[in-house]
Amino acid sequence: DQVLRVLARDEKQLSLLRDLEGLKPQKVDFWRGPARPSLPVDMRVPFSELKDIKAYLESHGLAYSIMIKDIQVLLDEERETMAKSRRLERSTSSFSYSSYHTLEEIYSWIDNLVTEHSDIVSKIHIGNSFENRSILVLKFSTGGSQRPAIWIDTGIHSREWITHATGIWIAKKIVNEYSKGGVLTDILNAMDIFIELVTNPDGFAFTHSMNRLWRKNKSTRPGIFCIGVDLNRNWNSGFGGNGSNNNPCSETYHGPSPQSEPEVAAIVNFITGHGNVKALISIHSYSQMLMYPYGHSLQPVANQEELYHLAKGAVKALYEVHGIEYIFGSISTTLYVASGITVDWAYDRGIKYAFSFELRDTGRYGFLLPASQIIPTAQETWLAILTIMEHTRTHPY
Ligand SMILES: *[C@@H]1O[C@H](CO)[C@@H](O)[C@H](O)[C@H]1NC(C)=O
Ligand SMILES: *[C@@H]1O[C@H](CO)[C@@H](O)[C@H](O)[C@H]1NC(C)=O
Ligand SMILES: *[C@@H]1O[C@H](CO)[C@@H](O)[C@H](O)[C@H]1NC(C)=O
Ligand SMILES: [Zn+2]
Repeated sequence: DQVLRVLARDEKQLSLLRDLEGLKPQKVDFWRGPARPSLPVDMRVPFSELKDIKAYLESHGLAYSIMIKDIQVLLDEERETMAKSRRLERSTSSFSYSSYHTLEEIYSWIDNLVTEHSDIVSKIHIGNSFENRSILVLKFSTGGSQRPAIWIDTGIHSREWITHATGIWIAKKIVNEYSKGGVLTDILNAMDIFIELVTNPDGFAFTHSMNRLWRKNKSTRPGIFCIGVDLNRNWNSGFGGNGSNNNPCSETYHGPSPQSEPEVAAIVNFITGHGNVKALISIHSYSQMLMYPYGHSLQPVANQEELYHLAKGAVKALYEVHGIEYIFGSISTTLYVASGITVDWAYDRGIKYAFSFELRDTGRYGFLLPASQIIPTAQETWLAILTIMEHTRTHPY
């Protein structure tokens, strides 16, 4: 299989790319979907379809390049690196933060973290997945009850492995930094932080066992052949609108109804029940973007100006770590219109600091980002998140 990058010149060429989903159902896997002419479109094409798809692109005058010549080479490399570090560590100090890990390794790491730092971290079970795996949230708290809180989730799209790895590094960073004083100590003395590291546990387990490039969850329904719902189209905000799909075979299938998926419902119940979440950060990859609501509409949100400046500051802090450039803005104007997404739901529930990241890279490796980039990615992302958390602390509402 290859990943092709297409640069569409205009709206008309973009719609020719959108047509591919209908012409070649389940054959073309968009890694970066058709959005706007200024953004490249990346698509994974199975070997058996390469000739046809390339002929289609050429016949319509769509310029393309080969971004990844042979995906299998990257998959093999990734598997080999993982095998070297695969073991259940007894402590979070001997854990390899520069490797990707299985669900079992991550859940074991969570238990170790909670044991080692029981003074500030605990584990909350917020529900079970479709295949009955535990859905876990880490709570970082120095006391108080229902303090204003910051929510962070990673891995709602299971193939975005860099997001789980970044979340793990950040969780460890929080316990390390707390003892040192400084900004994070101020934050934790006033607020709690919740992190859901594996937001789509079934999908994640599947990316390890069967299909590394699986995006959706694993739900099935009677009479429907295709598996899974896009959990980032299943939220109750603009549900079923533009930028989501009614076809269960689509990668952006929104599901039968809002919150139909247990993974989404668990978060909705938790955040609603908590009632005092002030910032929500939902982490995806890839594209190097920091975005805020709305996704489902082009309408600017009420505090758009504030979110713009906050995003700008966060992106600057990120850049200063390793010189990586992010673009930022509202989801619908920066990326594309997308309905039923996490941050729109959060915003509509009164969480006015709602952000979504697309981490590294811009397509050289896409979802198969080498493990050697985990730590630099986490370091820079941490500074951006810290900027958002500190702003939330100093702007109570
Ligand atoms: C789901 O898992 C829990 C343990 O986490 C178990 O008690 C329960 O019986 C399981 N449910 C099903 C339907 O298998
Ligand atoms: C996956 O999606 C289905 C709907 O297709 C849903 O019923 C199921 O609960 C979901 N599974 C998870 C783990 O979210
Ligand atoms: C969806 O997009 C179409 C075409 O751009 C537009 O006419 C329609 O109003 C949009 N629907 C919603 C709910 O925004
Ligand atoms: Zn994603």
